[in-house]
Order: sequence, then structure tokens, then C-alpha cells
Amino acid sequence: MTSMQTILKKLPSDLDQDRLPKHVAVIMDGNGRWAKSRGLPRIVGHRQGVEALKNLLRCCDDWGIKALTAYAFSTENWGRPLEEVEFLMALFERVLMRELREMMAENVRIQFVGNLVALPQSLQSQIQRSMNQTKENKGIQFTVATNYGGRQEILQATRAIATQVQQGQLQPEEIDEALFSRHLYTANVCDPDLLIRTSGEMRLSNFLLWQMAYAELYITDTYWPDFDRTQFHQALSSYQQRDRRFGKVKK
Ligand code: IPE
Ligand code: IPE
Ligand code: MG
Repeated sequence: MTSMQTILKKLPSDLDQDRLPKHVAVIMDGNGRWAKSRGLPRIVGHRQGVEALKNLLRCCDDWGIKALTAYAFSTENWGRPLEEVEFLMALFERVLMRELREMMAENVRIQFVGNLVALPQSLQSQIQRSMNQTKENKGIQFTVATNYGGRQEILQATRAIATQVQQGQLQPEEIDEALFSRHLYTANVCDPDLLIRTSGEMRLSNFLLWQMAYAELYITDTYWPDFDRTQFHQALSSYQQRDRRFGKVKK
């Protein structure tokens, strides 16, 4: 390893190891605009976006962040041109196949959240394979939201809980925040501390609506394919300057 690589692996010295977010979520936005600004087709932006995600995953791992969740495809994204949707589904499948060995080597535990049964069968198989193979890994928890919608997730949790009540297994009074959280796709990870959205859009676009109740928001104008370690460093610096009061009064 070159010395430059060793330096990059270390947490930048101005960041406080003890106050890093435990869980970072990203809305990877701006792939299309990145491509357009270069006179390239949108799909080139998506392909480049995969590289940015791989780099961020590795960076989180290097710097000691335990969980990363990335928004790859929303329930609303089906409304895009068929050609683009098909390209994305094929891309997800190809990347999963290609990166599984690397993820095993780096001890990554990957999981997918969203309405997965509506995805192409071959993609579902790859998803199952990657989740099964990495489930005992003890490294970073990497969650990919695919055909994910926050409202859809809340509805499926509500239906599951209602069924339990109907069958007499649960009393309505027993439904609290902890129980509800356990019925969400993200039951095994803590809520995100930091949400990063690229390409300047100031909205949640139906991402982790319940879980994001107290996340710190960081929005950058950078298009997703250009989001690198320097950008991530800036996001973390900003996060560490925030005063997370959680509704209380500062001591
Ligand atoms: C985000 O980039 C990737 C997905 C939604 C799959 P976009 O494709 O939304 O890029 P822009 O926002 O059109 O630039
Ligand atoms: C959000 O980006 C979804 C993903 C990044 C997968 P979009 O580009 O789909 O969101 P809008 O259309 O700007 O709300
Ligand atoms: Mg977009």
C-alpha cells in the first residue's frame, strides 16, 4: 500500500472518533444531471454512481462508521422511462454479482430493504444470495433501499401489526414506538444520525420517513458521482458542529 492510501484510510485528524454518526444514510441523487452536464446518456451517470457508492462504503469502513444505508431505487422511480428502469435493474444485478467476493473479503454485511418481491426474479435471487452469504459478517452493515418507499414501509408494518391484533396475539395498548420499529425493514439497525443528499434537492423523496425523525440533514450541490472522501469529510465536519438537542434545552 502506498503512503497516500494509508493516509486516506485514516480518519481525518479534525474529526472526533467518538462523535461520528453510528449510521449514515444517503440519497444518491444527481446521476442524470452529472451525465447530462458531460453530454453523456443518463445511464453513464448511474454506472459512475456505483463507483461513488463503493468508495463511500469503503470510506465508512476505514473511518469506523458502523452502518451505511443508500437509496438506490424508490417506489416512485418505476415512473421513469422503461429503458432506464431496465438498465438500473440490470446494473444492480451485475454489480451485486461482481462485488460479492470483495464484500466477503471486507467483512461487509449487506441487506436490501424495500418491496423486494416486485423486483425482477433474477435480481431477487442475487439479493438473496448476497444477503445469505454475508449475514454472519461482522463488519459494516450496508443497507441498500431498492423499490423502497417510506410510506409503503409504514403501511406494511401497520398491516402486519393489525393482523396480530386481529388474531388476538397483541393488544392495541402494546403498540409503541419500539414495537412499530421492529416491524419496519430496518429493524436491525439504529435510526440514521446523518442524512446526506447530493445534487442540492431539499427533500426526503419518501426515504426512511419514520427512521429520519431526528436525523441531521446535510445537503450538498455536488452530483452523486462526484461525491468523494473530501465531500464526505465535509459532511462529517458539519455533523460534528451540530448541537443535537432532541427537543431539550442546552445545558
Ligand atoms: C439518482 O440520480 C439515482 C436514482 C434515482 C436511481 P437521478 O437519476 O435521480 O439523477 P437526476 O436527479 O435526474 O440528476
Ligand atoms: C430519490 O431520488 C431516489 C433515489 C435516490 C433512489 P429521485 O431523483 O428519484 O427523487 P426526486 O424525484 O428528486 O424526488
Ligand atoms: Mg434525481
